[in-house]
Amino acid sequence: MAKKILTEYINVPGIETFDAYRKQGGYTAAEKALKTMTPDEVVEEAKKSGVRGRGGAGFPMGMKWGFLAKPEGVPRYLVCNADESEPGTFKDHYLMKSIPHLLIEGMIIGSYALGAKKSFIYVRGELMYVIHILEKAIAEATAQGFLGKNILGTGYDLELVVQPGGGAYICGEETALLESLEGKRGNPRNKPPFPAVKGLYQSPTVVNNVESIANMPWIINNGSDAYAAIGIGRSTGTKLISASGHIQKPGVYEIELGVSVEEFLNSDEYCGGVRKGHHLKALVAGGSSVPILPANLIMKTANGEDRLMSYESLSDGGFATGTMLGSGGFIVFDETACIVRNTWNFARFYHHESCGQCSPCREGTGWMEKVLHRIEHGHGSMHDVDLLVDISKKIEGNTICPLGDAAAWPVASAIRHFRDEFIWHITNPYEASQPGAVYQGEMALV
Ligand SMILES: Cc1cc2nc3c(=O)[nH]c(=O)nc-3n(C[C@H](O)[C@H](O)[C@H](O)COP(=O)(O)O)c2cc1C
Repeated sequence: MAKKILTEYINVPGIETFDAYRKQGGYTAAEKALKTMTPDEVVEEAKKSGVRGRGGAGFPMGMKWGFLAKPEGVPRYLVCNADESEPGTFKDHYLMKSIPHLLIEGMIIGSYALGAKKSFIYVRGELMYVIHILEKAIAEATAQGFLGKNILGTGYDLELVVQPGGGAYICGEETALLESLEGKRGNPRNKPPFPAVKGLYQSPTVVNNVESIANMPWIINNGSDAYAAIGIGRSTGTKLISASGHIQKPGVYEIELGVSVEEFLNSDEYCGGVRKGHHLKALVAGGSSVPILPANLIMKTANGEDRLMSYESLSDGGFATGTMLGSGGFIVFDETACIVRNTWNFARFYHHESCGQCSPCREGTGWMEKVLHRIEHGHGSMHDVDLLVDISKKIEGNTICPLGDAAAWPVASAIRHFRDEFIWHITNPYEASQPGAVYQGEMALV
């Protein structure tokens, strides 16, 4: 069995309560950090562990903590990003509802390390029941002296606030999240200044994903060296993967980074294989924003090596033949899936969720949705395929926040790897637009 850092106790009955969590060794890491370590020592442990942000970009967490500005007399904030709205990603939700004290303990450790006296958990607004679970857990931790004034007699004060999100995907982008937390419309901010210098209420702020923060109790209890020994290369530790689509066992799995894609997909410990009687056509490995890959390229890199579930291996080959680990939303498509329809569906989502500040994203996502709609519904022209590539290139890199890239990559990659399927839709409009019709020809591979 693979090493478990986040989910080892997730099935213990009552683990959502303080008492059950405490019985499994919960809050010993917070005690250790606050009573025996300086804040800088905690930051150093985060750095040495090599843990990378689990929200999508994979930026090293300790390094981010080290960048936090510390001007005299100015408050600092730790904000947990629990907005989780990326299609195909549902692991933070699972962690928070099942074992809320793990995140709260991580928030105490992280806030102490950064010198924050007030911290926030910004939760996707639709998850009201999770917000109640977190609030109950915070009340328990406060009653037990782990939150509030003079925690465990150490003189450190921390208030932890749960904030329901604004109900938009864009509010997961860290600067839009800060705007929303301040009570404004969730529009991303121009950077610089980065949140580490001017974040929440113009004060130095760190924004981290739920899973990133939830690693801290284990790192403090077991040491950064033990954490860094798990995983592969610069992909240290474990990763929660949300597995969905045409597989035998959809769900959230904790993997050691470095397990092969083949093993994750086919072994009974994880997805249990593609559903019976079908075969793999394509896979999105890191949530809807990352490039889609055809079956052969997801199993092996262009050099013929086994593709691994790690930041480096999944991106091997760049976007020509690779993809990204992203937020770990592993979406599996068998041969019954229509790539054009799926790409149109993703494009609809990004068009709907674009905040509208930047013209390339506001206009471009709408154009992509329109063009994909007409191809899917039998009204496309040959010119449309290159038009889509052209629009995607004009969005990519030309927007304030990466939502534009996230909208462009699925479209560009679908055409890169499945161009024949798009052309089949255009040359066989009647057949292709029938409900359930799927291209059965050879896939165009790089
Ligand atoms: C449109 C958009 C939506 C995002 N949604 C989330 C989200 O729901 N949760 C999250 O942790 N990060 C999300 N991110 C990434 C955050 O901007 C940020 O990188 C992350 O919260 C940093 O935490 P980490 O370093 O621990 O990964 C999103 C980014 C973009 C561009």
